[in-house]
Parts: sequence; structure tokens; C-alpha cells
Amino acid sequence: MAKSKITEIDPPTDCTLCPRLVEFREENCEAFPDYFNGAVPSFGSWDAELLIVGLAPGLHGANQTARPFTGDYAGDLLYATLEKFGLSNGKYAASPDDGLVLKSTMITNAVRCVPPQNKPIGEEIKTCRPFLTKQISQMKNLRAILCLGRIAHESTLAALEIKRKDAPFTHGAKHKVPGASYALFDSYHCSRYNTNTRRLTVPMFEDVFAAICNSLEC
Ligand code: URA
Repeated sequence: MAKSKITEIDPPTDCTLCPRLVEFREENCEAFPDYFNGAVPSFGSWDAELLIVGLAPGLHGANQTARPFTGDYAGDLLYATLEKFGLSNGKYAASPDDGLVLKSTMITNAVRCVPPQNKPIGEEIKTCRPFLTKQISQMKNLRAILCLGRIAHESTLAALEIKRKDAPFTHGAKHKVPGASYALFDSYHCSRYNTNTRRLTVPMFEDVFAAICNSLEC
């Protein structure tokens, strides 16, 4: 599938919209000069049918490698699951040079810059949201959005102007989006914490992908 070139709907690498995140970036540029240390662009194809929305880049993962979930513990499970469900080609090797290609899938984050303690504040989630709104509106073949965790879910609802009470976050839920050709799917975030505490197990995560693939007929 050809990749379109609408990359300007991702924020610029040196985005300055969130003062606390800019300050954190400056500290990280000092501490980790070899890291990417910028707003992490989405990964995948703009004509994808599936959009996966994560939380924010991990300090030593996507913030280092410049590709969502890449080098993050959460990425090990996410990319293994994409491979298992035929949504990627090639081998994930925790590096943007690994040659991995997503199939009809795009991965992004609710907040594109790494936040301190991995916790974006409400204002940052809101400030970054227009990029997600625009992204969804540009993805003309979209059939499914997978929200990883409550923050991704609520930011996506806000981007789509859906009230929280009409689509409460529930692991495994599928929500219809009025007037849209796509549905929202929820999963607990595939973070190290959630998998270590078994809030999210591999079968639970795979069940969500099975439901998505069933809906996409992939
Ligand atoms: N890495 C990302 O890019 N996003 C997440 O939500 C977690 C890790």
C-alpha cells in the first residue's frame, strides 16, 4: 500500500506547545544527547484501516528511537501481537532501522512528546489533541481505532466529540462512532506495569486484536 505524504499533521520534532514538555526535552538533550528527544511522529501508513493510539513516548524507548513503542517494554507485546495477527511484515528489533513495515496499520500517541514520570497532565493531553483529530480526519480508509488505556480512549473521544458517558472505557469494548465508518476498540495499555500485575495478559490483548481483525476481515 502506497504511503501518502501528509506528515505535517504530526507536530514538528521541536514542537514548543507544552512548556513542561519542552523543559523536560531540554533536560533530556543534556542527559541523553544521542536520543531523538523530540515529538515522535506516527508510524505506518496514512491509508491504513487501523489506527492504534498509545499514551506517550517512553523516555528510553520511543523518545530515544523516534518510533512509537520502539524500545519500550510495551512495544515488545504490541509488535509481537501485530506480527501474530498479520498486521506487520518483517521482524521487530526495537530499532527504527529494523525494516519492520506495518500492514494497513498506523501507530500514534495521545501525547507526542515524552512526559516526566510517563504522566502527561490534562493540559498537555488537550494541547496535543488537535494532531490526533486531524490525523483521524485524514485517514480516509479508517475502520478501527484501538485505544490503549484510558487516557488514549478519553482523548480519542474528545477528538471525535463523543461524550464519555456514551462510550465508557472498558477493556475489550467496541464502541460505535455515530456517522463514521470506523469503530473504537478499548484495551488496557500494554505497559510493563499492567502485564506484570496481570491486569492485562497476552490472551486478553490478543482477544482484542482478534475482535479487530474480525471486524476488518484481516
Ligand atoms: N511507547 C509509546 O510510544 N507509547 C506508549 O503509550 C508507551 C510506550
